Amino acid sequence: MRVWMFRTWKTASFCFLRNLCMRRRLRKGGDSINSFMAWVGGKKALRDEILARFPRNYKRYIEVFGGAGWVLFHKPPGNDFEVFNDFNGNLVNLYRCVREQPEALRRAILPRIKDGAVVFDGLMLDSSRYDCIKIIACGSSYHVGMVGKYNLEKLARIPVEVVLASEFRYCDPIIDSRTLVVVISQSGETLDTMAALREAKSLGARILSIVNVVGSSIARESDDVLYTWAGPEIAVATTKAYSTQMAVLDLLAIYLAGQRKTITAEDMRRLTSAIAALPAQVEQILSNREQIQYYASQYFNHDSVFFIGRNLDYALGMEGSLKLKEISYIHSEAYASGELKHGTISLIEPGTLVVALGSYTPLFDKAMSNVIEVKARGASVLALATESHRAEMESRVDGILTIPDTELMFLPLLGVVPLQLFAYYVALQRGCDIDKPRNLAKSVTVE
Ligand code: AGP
Repeated sequence: MRVWMFRTWKTASFCFLRNLCMRRRLRKGGDSINSFMAWVGGKKALRDEILARFPRNYKRYIEVFGGAGWVLFHKPPGNDFEVFNDFNGNLVNLYRCVREQPEALRRAILPRIKDGAVVFDGLMLDSSRYDCIKIIACGSSYHVGMVGKYNLEKLARIPVEVVLASEFRYCDPIIDSRTLVVVISQSGETLDTMAALREAKSLGARILSIVNVVGSSIARESDDVLYTWAGPEIAVATTKAYSTQMAVLDLLAIYLAGQRKTITAEDMRRLTSAIAALPAQVEQILSNREQIQYYASQYFNHDSVFFIGRNLDYALGMEGSLKLKEISYIHSEAYASGELKHGTISLIEPGTLVVALGSYTPLFDKAMSNVIEVKARGASVLALATESHRAEMESRVDGILTIPDTELMFLPLLGVVPLQLFAYYVALQRGCDIDKPRNLAKSVTVE
């Protein structure tokens, strides 16, 4: 009891002292954030101490990012300013792109919705001429395609195959003039994807590309181009390009379903209304980022993480896993939950971190059974759920990330935001170079 009381007193007094000196500095530093950063950055002991005692009442603190990966929290009442710099005053572009997603999504979505329907100006595409769709891409763009497969097949009732560009080129693909090839690429310059496009074109397929960089090689060589309008993405790891690619592919799924009459006019109105609401819902998720920071401060020392999910959650987990890997250097894998018992569950042991994606509500009960399965083997579980399923999930897991409820097809577009933030805050805690991860390039123009 005595020890506990001492510790509590010590923590409380530490917090008081810290607030005192930090508030003084903030006033003295005025609005020169960089000088404030430099001051705090030079106080390693202060940084170490604060992180070591990361206060649970995280609501009272803003983010102050450390070039050495330290994260410091302090928000004097009333002063609400955002900080994107690290201790060296450098901008953390990836974080800024995550925060820009609501505006980027508005640019990608709103001009393409008119009178409750999806319109693509200049797109002359008659889907009745095609028997199947092949989505070809790499990396995060491939993960967008994985989500698109579920939505296109469910909505437009057309067979969809998603193929890695680097594999497509060497698998003697079955393609003809009745194949619609959708090429997805942020840069529009990825060599594997460019080569796959040329191969598909030579076999007679129609090429529709979803690209961010206007006038890029892939855009120029496609029959049709749908730009994402995400704006320049400086950080190597993609965030807003991924979410705007997904928004455009979701719009394409609704457009083709309308053309093929596999959805009613009411469905069209309901879906276009829901997709138009997504930017505001992303803003809502971003406003709750302190909780995600808190979880990152609990889990940043893990050396292996499993992302598990079913259906759209499985496709989402692929991107959550890649984001964590590429910026924090933690090994992670995305697994279809139903596959765990066929081998991988042997790797689950006490303390293993499992990110259980349970946002796809039709399979929520299955997701819950997988949570119980891994918890029984000692795993720490950080779950993703919709607000409507939060209470039920929260009661069974160690941490919970929530997203607003929306149409099923849009759940990954919201679900990726907490996963991007989680990867970012973990990478910060680990002192990684977030904008320029080791060994990676923004556009892979080599084989
Ligand atoms: C981005 O986070 C990834 N590092 C990377 O996998 C990327 O998605 C992939 O190289 C494809 O790039 P593209 O979209 O520009 O074609």
